Amino acid sequence: MAQGIVIYYSRSGNTKEMAEIIAKAMNEAALPTDCKAVNKVKAEDLLGYDAIVVGSPTYYGHMAGPVKQLFDDAVTYHGRLDGKIGGAFSSAANIGGGNETTIMGIIEAMLISGMIVEGDPQGDHYGPVSIGKPDKRVTEQCQRRGRRIAELTKKLHS
Ligand SMILES: Cc1cc2nc3c(=O)[nH]c(=O)nc-3n(C[C@H](O)[C@H](O)[C@H](O)COP(=O)(O)O)c2cc1C
Repeated sequence: MAQGIVIYYSRSGNTKEMAEIIAKAMNEAALPTDCKAVNKVKAEDLLGYDAIVVGSPTYYGHMAGPVKQLFDDAVTYHGRLDGKIGGAFSSAANIGGGNETTIMGIIEAMLISGMIVEGDPQGDHYGPVSIGKPDKRVTEQCQRRGRRIAELTKKLHS
């Protein structure tokens, strides 16, 4: 059976809240999904999942160091994430504060790994973004993204 994981880094809880909403939506869409802080995940753990969703606060327009470290550690397994489903999300302080460049950085690492990332023509196009604490709009975007990732994963990996 296909399996997903949502991995996040969060100092003040905003990205963590988004991660939990996405993971809940994935589980509700019948894709068993773990939700873990990045310091609880080793690169080799990634091999056991069909869908890998990664969230980071925006730090200077990029992913936070611990998230980058996970991707750097995953070089040991380069090629073995090929064909897995990916997704990304980010929390920032400001509109125009770089949350979409943060998401694109995560997606770039996923694409280089051979992962499949679905855009969204109606919702947040690259992945859910939040300004500070997730509000109703962000909650809905996270739920929508979780559902879409679960549906695609079940289609390709069941
Ligand atoms: C080192 C550092 C760099 C940051 N850089 C940015 C930035 O470039 N743009 C922005 O909008 N917010 C920036 N922020 C704010 C965080 O992205 C924002 O507070 C986010 O919601 C924190 O997520 P968290 O609650 O999951 O830790 C920065 C915060 C820190 C600590």
